[in-house]
Amino acid sequence: MSEKKLHSAFNVPERILLGPGPSNMPPSVSQALAMPVIGHLDPIFLQVMDEVQGMLRQLFQTKNRLTIPVSGTGSAGMEAALSNFIEPGDRVLIGVIGYFGERMVAMAERYGAEVHRLEVPWGQALDLDEVKAALGKHKYKFLAVVHGETSSGVRQPQIAELAAAAHQHGALFILDTVASLGGVPVETDAWDVDVAFSGSQKALSASPGLAPITIGPRAEEALAKRKTQVGNWYLSLGEVQKYWGGERTYHHTAPVQLNYALHEALRLALDEGLEARYARHQHNAETLWSGLEALDMEMLVARENRLATVTSVRVPPSASHDHVKNSLLNDYGIEIGAGLGQLKGQIWRIGLMGHSSQRKYVSLVLAALREILSG
Ligand SMILES: Cc1ncc(COP(=O)(O)O)c(C=O)c1O
Repeated sequence: MSEKKLHSAFNVPERILLGPGPSNMPPSVSQALAMPVIGHLDPIFLQVMDEVQGMLRQLFQTKNRLTIPVSGTGSAGMEAALSNFIEPGDRVLIGVIGYFGERMVAMAERYGAEVHRLEVPWGQALDLDEVKAALGKHKYKFLAVVHGETSSGVRQPQIAELAAAAHQHGALFILDTVASLGGVPVETDAWDVDVAFSGSQKALSASPGLAPITIGPRAEEALAKRKTQVGNWYLSLGEVQKYWGGERTYHHTAPVQLNYALHEALRLALDEGLEARYARHQHNAETLWSGLEALDMEMLVARENRLATVTSVRVPPSASHDHVKNSLLNDYGIEIGAGLGQLKGQIWRIGLMGHSSQRKYVSLVLAALREILSG
């Protein structure tokens, strides 16, 4: 006789998400997620899709026709951005200023690229002259860099200059905006970025699971000229676009509710106003930096290169990385991020992204840190 096992329904506690993502979702975004599933070709859903595309163009500050959320997290955006522009044997140049630059290298190698990396110690940004020198040495298909490097808290400056340098040498320019879009300015057209991709769960404060991407005219042309098939079926933009664009032909079932949530999150961002939103992120980050310095804590990144959405602070010699992080979570309900890779155990990462970028959370995390560090 088979025994029927009953599972109890699970519950999750409320957390204040001050890590490097995901961030807290505004209540109306959570409500959007709970709306009924409808067919992915239902006219109402097609309207949601059209509006999402229009609002994404505003967030990316672009007129690019091909601007959509691909299914999957930020890494799917990265994989789409790389796989659609690599043909086996292509030489590509990737800026590695932290963990996510490394991930781009790992992905590009899997698609058969000859990858050249331009590396700096984590906590620093790429130097424009060094990038120019590297671009002059070989012919590259593209230059890819990370705008907001979440592993170190660096905002790469001079994006327009980097894009111009890539174009002067006949290379496309690809930008990872997973940790920047919606929190710090991303000016796709003004900076002449060919491909930018992001994630839904960071400064946009939607749920994890969608990766906005935008493809400019130069990149569309490169895609059309490919001699080989894109090495990834699911993220092949030419095919995916037939569903998002005019033809509306089935490619894969869209994650319907994730798109409702993204729609609501984008609507809120535009309702707040992009300039006001960037100012809020910058102001709250600066308040956090001053508060950490007042606690005698040392920042990893020089002020001019700090990312407003993620702050890296060194673990003081007298403190235990794990104890502080665990105490914040268990005693205060606050999640912060651990150091990754080279910086494991050496830094904490405090995210102030989207709905989590609030003055009251800055005060709370500073007060909690003061209590924990003073024992
Ligand atoms: C800069 C950057 N790129 C890419 C990713 C990958 O995104 P995901 O974890 O959503 O796949 C992240 C995630 O933290 C990121 O911060």
